[in-house]
Amino acid sequence: MIAFMPDQHLYLAREALLRTHSLCILTGAGISAESGIATFRDALTGLWKNFKAEELATSGAFLANPKRVWEWYAWRREKVLAARPSPGHAALVALERKCIARDANFTLVTQNVDGLHQAAGNRNVIELHGNIRRVKCVDHHHPADTWPDSPVPPRCGQCGSLLRPDVVWFGESLPEDALETAMRAARTCDVFLSVGTSTVVEPAASLPFLARQAGATVIEVNTVATPLSSIAQISLRGSAGSILPDLAG
Ligand code: OAD
Repeated sequence: MIAFMPDQHLYLAREALLRTHSLCILTGAGISAESGIATFRDALTGLWKNFKAEELATSGAFLANPKRVWEWYAWRREKVLAARPSPGHAALVALERKCIARDANFTLVTQNVDGLHQAAGNRNVIELHGNIRRVKCVDHHHPADTWPDSPVPPRCGQCGSLLRPDVVWFGESLPEDALETAMRAARTCDVFLSVGTSTVVEPAASLPFLARQAGATVIEVNTVATPLSSIAQISLRGSAGSILPDLAG
């Protein structure tokens, strides 16, 4: 990374976004923090600082104690349903509209399961880790329209197996189509914008590195440095809600 003054970073990022022919964005929990949704690894409030992932976010944990896992996701889902998109989310909608107006490609890849990008109005959203608003059955992945209240956890209306949240748990594969589309977007974009992710969970964490290798300008927006910061050409330190509106404006 070249050392620029903060204003220069912002200016260069805005220029890159104004001229892009193909923009790929990767978001993580940081962009939803300002909507009141907890991140995973932030020091005091991160979910994985306060709960054990291995007891809540693996298929083994679900089989061992389906009620506990279901109730934890139901609690998180309540928070998601009560949340509203943040100024950071709104700025990404503005960026998509600008790309569409200029006939530039726009792909928003998210690790978030809260659906807030779609709620804000983004259209081309690729969900790598699923969506907590949806449920599916354990045996056949039959989707279920609603999030039934009882029994806990409820059973699939088609096959009778347990219903679970439609999210990717540790040790599970990502949805193949979503991952392929995300990798293609990363390899072919000319600007890659990473927002509010610790850049440690694979395979999402590799996307900005793929983009950099393929020659894209990589811009990072985060409150702290991450493993991406040293290779991003432009690293903007601060909250998504304060920086993204400036970038999109
Ligand atoms: P993390 O909690 O690991 O990282 C959130 C990042 O956002 C951190 O680097 C924070 O510094 C940054 N951050 C916090 N508030 C911010 C703000 N207001 N503006 C900008 N940045 C901010 O979350 P993810 O990187 O999304 O996986 O975690 C990746 C995956 O790990 C998640 O999708 C989840 C988790 O286990 C699954 O559930 C499969």
